[in-house]
Amino acid sequence: MAKEKVLVTSALPYANGPIHLGHLSGAYLPADIYVRYKRLNGDDVLYICGSDEHGVPITISADKEGVSPKVIIDRFHEINKKAFEKFGMSFDNYSRTSLPIHHDTAKEFFLEFYNRGILKEKKSHQFYDEKAKMFLPDRYVEGTCPNCESEDARGDECENCGALYDPSDLINPKSKISGETPVLKETSHWFFPLGDYQPNLEKYVNVMNEKYGWKENVMQYNRSWFKDGLKDRAVTRDLDWGVKVPLDEAQTKVIYVWFEAVLGYISSTKEYSENVGEPDLWKKYWQDSETKYIAFIGKDNVVFHCIIFPAMLMAWNNGEQKEKYCLPQNVPANEFLNFEGKKFSKSRNWGIDADKFLELFPADPLRYTLAANLPENRDTDFYWKEFQLRNNSELADILGNFINRTFTFVFKHFEGKVPVLGKLEKIDEEMLNEISEYPKRTGDLFERYKVKDCTNEIMNLARDGNKYFNDSEPWKTIKSNKEKCATTLHVCMQAIYTLAELFSPVIPYTSEKLFNMLDAKPVAWAKCGEPQLNAGHQMNKAEILFPKIEDEVIEEQISKLNSEKSELPKEKDELISYDEFMKTKLKVAEIISAEKIEKSKKLIKLKVKLDDGERQLVAGIAEHHQPEDLPGKKVVIVANLQPAKLMGEESQGMILAVEKKDGALQIITVDNSVKNGTRVK
Ligand code: MF3
Ligand code: ZN
Repeated sequence: MAKEKVLVTSALPYANGPIHLGHLSGAYLPADIYVRYKRLNGDDVLYICGSDEHGVPITISADKEGVSPKVIIDRFHEINKKAFEKFGMSFDNYSRTSLPIHHDTAKEFFLEFYNRGILKEKKSHQFYDEKAKMFLPDRYVEGTCPNCESEDARGDECENCGALYDPSDLINPKSKISGETPVLKETSHWFFPLGDYQPNLEKYVNVMNEKYGWKENVMQYNRSWFKDGLKDRAVTRDLDWGVKVPLDEAQTKVIYVWFEAVLGYISSTKEYSENVGEPDLWKKYWQDSETKYIAFIGKDNVVFHCIIFPAMLMAWNNGEQKEKYCLPQNVPANEFLNFEGKKFSKSRNWGIDADKFLELFPADPLRYTLAANLPENRDTDFYWKEFQLRNNSELADILGNFINRTFTFVFKHFEGKVPVLGKLEKIDEEMLNEISEYPKRTGDLFERYKVKDCTNEIMNLARDGNKYFNDSEPWKTIKSNKEKCATTLHVCMQAIYTLAELFSPVIPYTSEKLFNMLDAKPVAWAKCGEPQLNAGHQMNKAEILFPKIEDEVIEEQISKLNSEKSELPKEKDELISYDEFMKTKLKVAEIISAEKIEKSKKLIKLKVKLDDGERQLVAGIAEHHQPEDLPGKKVVIVANLQPAKLMGEESQGMILAVEKKDGALQIITVDNSVKNGTRVK
């Protein structure tokens, strides 16, 4: 097949928090695997990404912490960049949308459209928070989705059903800043006439689908937007964090984040070109009709990559310039990865961030586990137990075992040299045949973005390698027929070479070790199923490729997850110091007498004894305790509470109780052996 020029992008993650496993399996790992395969296939590949550093998610994070957005983006750009590196992401460039090169690119597009009269200025009504005195960006507004009626829908977009709507259609809107119901107030914005592009967009999407087979889930999203009809979209916002609108009359406005973030792919490519000393190189990718541009994203980004970004590029291409941008040839969007049966949630502490995970485990077992279970057609889940199983029972017991037994045998009986291939029997021919078919079979799957099927298919070659080893019984033939034994091991070695290469996009770190063990190098993908190791070639000693993961290690992660979820306070300011806690004097007291207070349903009057005498308490426990049951019980009271009068009776302290699920109160008691007045801490 002719060499292709491939431009690959992965969605630019918001630099407002650490990426988690769900992000990795949605838009990053599949792209990286595809890219690594394409490079081995000999294609000319450029892989581009970077941080999305504008938009309301960033300002919300900054507001929460009381710092500037810059602090947030600097922090998470670094964290995510490092996590990606550790995970083995092979970006050619990882840029940032806060860089001047990006601002310039975004302004250039805006002005081009503005000058050509494409953008229309319109007065519109936007939610305004009268208490906070500001226009509310969509994400600062919450309400009920007008489409599916799910609650906590965003201002303009429902995470539950994917609907996009006008914020004024949102039911029961609330400001996330003040909690007040916002009012609609007039402001003016520039609109991109998305509706005008609908006929051309439909044509584009359908042609691409026919030619290149777009994924069914992606086509479904597209059809539903076309069916609803595309509407003009405001491409400016009343905010101060973002790319400033390059017009004198709009000093207080920025370009809508989605209208500039997608251009981050282009500016990141420009930055790359400058870094490699060829400032115009980016044009050879973006402005060449031969380029095959593939955009990897998660399902929540489909409309932006299949409709809005292409419409922007079409609008540019309709202009006078002779440079025309290429549109995505395919957008293999994935569904979502959930975590142990539930959505990832930062606020509920459910899930694990990529950087944290990679402090605990190496990248390859995670890459393999995620790749073997990608949410390509439906949502899937990450389970700690499955991770352990994939590592121990597949990577170690199937792949690792096949490699290890072959190496051990070759070192024991053939001095670590590739044995000679002798006369072939049917079983050997079949195995060699299978090996030779693998590059094409797996290449076809990768070309169609079926990364999950392909990963599982590659593991099947290791399975078959083990079966071939077993059926050939080299431990017997080493004594009875050394030539046959050598043939078996020769074939096994070739299979290992092929596995080293086929698996290299998925588990690159292991593949590199394996090539070192083989003292060999990868060849062109199409050739890796042909014999690559000559008889007599000396191998290096085997190393352990996949240490097993013990039950305790996994259990620990699972238990941490549950306890963190329930125990960790959400906000720092909910914590109190030890000294503050010690101000509360909790003491053990013995109930001496108890009687109901007339005219009150709830109150009981108690006499209790401490070490320094008796006191009277009034407690609201009458609905749940009979007075006659109480005398003799040792309870815990707050001994230094200011006295208060309840129904005319003085209460000199408070008795501790727990509220059970049904609302019943149960007083806390301690063992009778505890002395009255003992401090509880
Ligand atoms: N930051 C967005 C998200 O995480 C994705 C932006 S993709 C881009 O959902 F193309 F717009 F950059
Ligand atoms: Zn909805």
